[in-house]
Amino acid sequence: MVLNGEEDKPNRPDVYSMKSDFLKTIVGKRDRRVYDPDLEVNGDILDEILQAGRMAGSSKNEQPIRSIVLIDPVLKSGIADCADYGLHVPESPIVIVLVRAPGSRPFDAGRAAQNMMLAAKARGIDSCPVGIQHDDRARLLLKFPEDWVVAMALTFGYPTGDADTLARTGDNRIAMGSWVKWNTWSED
Ligand SMILES: Cc1cc2nc3c(=O)[nH]c(=O)nc-3n(C[C@H](O)[C@H](O)[C@H](O)COP(=O)(O)O)c2cc1C
Repeated sequence: MVLNGEEDKPNRPDVYSMKSDFLKTIVGKRDRRVYDPDLEVNGDILDEILQAGRMAGSSKNEQPIRSIVLIDPVLKSGIADCADYGLHVPESPIVIVLVRAPGSRPFDAGRAAQNMMLAAKARGIDSCPVGIQHDDRARLLLKFPEDWVVAMALTFGYPTGDADTLARTGDNRIAMGSWVKWNTWSED
């Protein structure tokens, strides 16, 4: 807990003792790239994930994001070739490419993406955002309009082990004292 700049055990969110399942889902979410190849994500759960993205707020409610769901393995491999760090993409049970309208803000896509990944996590499904560096190739592959751009690809699948034991510890994040500035900027 941080209060007025005083720190007390600030760096470990202690996911296991959180009383709120909602907070556990948020803080326990990790970006994981290895999924159980034998467990399919069923259509109802996929609908929930898509619904969670659709419901994200956007600037002026312009709703500038669209989700392209890749089921076809050829397209999954194709989009992996549009990413510099997407080796796990072809093997991911579900791949969703978020594209955004001209003039839209990346923040809108971020809100939709995190909603989707948290909805998945609430159903025990892991996920990972994957940056798409080669927009032109992605546009040819997925046929979205010329002036739209890829915001992010997201991969989803069931974890291979017990997801709960892999919940976030906070050890790979900056300290709360660095993350939080009180009133004005301070160097830590
Ligand atoms: C904007 C953004 C782009 C990312 N791009 C990739 C990517 O191209 N490939 C990948 O494997 N992970 C990617 N990641 C996942 C990060 O590596 C991950 O968020 C970070 O390592 C923290 O992981 P953790 O939550 O499991 O601690 C990306 C994350 C963000 C937010």
